[in-house]
Amino acid sequence: MKTIGIFDSGLGGLTGYRDLRDLLPHHNLIYFGDTARVPYGTRSREVIRRYALQDANFLLSRNVEAILVACGTASSNALDLLEQTFSIPFVGVVAPAAQKAACCAAGGDGRVLVLGTAATVATGAYERAIHALDSSIEVRSVACPLFVPLVENGHTSKGDVAATAIAQEYLLPHADFRPDAVLLGCTHYPLLMGVIADVLPEPVLISAGAASARAMAKLAGEPEEDVPGTNEFFTSDDPQVFCREASRYLGTPITSPVQHVEIERY
Ligand code: DGL
Repeated sequence: MKTIGIFDSGLGGLTGYRDLRDLLPHHNLIYFGDTARVPYGTRSREVIRRYALQDANFLLSRNVEAILVACGTASSNALDLLEQTFSIPFVGVVAPAAQKAACCAAGGDGRVLVLGTAATVATGAYERAIHALDSSIEVRSVACPLFVPLVENGHTSKGDVAATAIAQEYLLPHADFRPDAVLLGCTHYPLLMGVIADVLPEPVLISAGAASARAMAKLAGEPEEDVPGTNEFFTSDDPQVFCREASRYLGTPITSPVQHVEIERY
């Protein structure tokens, strides 16, 4: 396998892309951020499933051989549909992140706080995946709908006043739950890692994007030729805005041109 597709509603999936790029330097990676339709997490299951099918269809039109669904909302609502519809392998974020969280909880007091979008939390997918590994783990799930707009609008730095106030509102009521791990079940949330760690400094923070990148790297194996892999970025909204924001997050400028996709055509 040489070419891997990655998609998310926006910038969040870059938390998977970045790790995958490090883990698989010889693979071609094609990233699609559906920035014209972000957020997914406030939408109905039916709409999320339609969007996920279109995102995968687009990546398949670029001849990818496997897809990392670097989106907690699409993974928890549509992974089954993607697997039934297409014949290539898919890796979602739920199972790999649940495994990491279960490990942390087993080495601690057995408590995990899951943060996700409203649509993810409504499925109970993380809870089920953690309990399938260890039914004694106490899991509490909290929807944090304002985190995605904060990230998409660049409010991510530690100390950001708006981000800190919102994080306190969502998280402080759960400080007494004393989790061993906080599972950042939406791939946008690791961009707020510094802000979240300021509010809940003790638990281990688990990035669903990073955990899924490791799972994809395992599946992909080494390609036959060891020439450096290529990177392609696509967005359904303004390529310049995507390029600027993605470069800021990745900490290195995106040099290949970001291309626009009319995603409703897929
Ligand atoms: N980053 C996505 C997730 O992991 C989507 C968030 C959203 O678009 O609401 O859930």
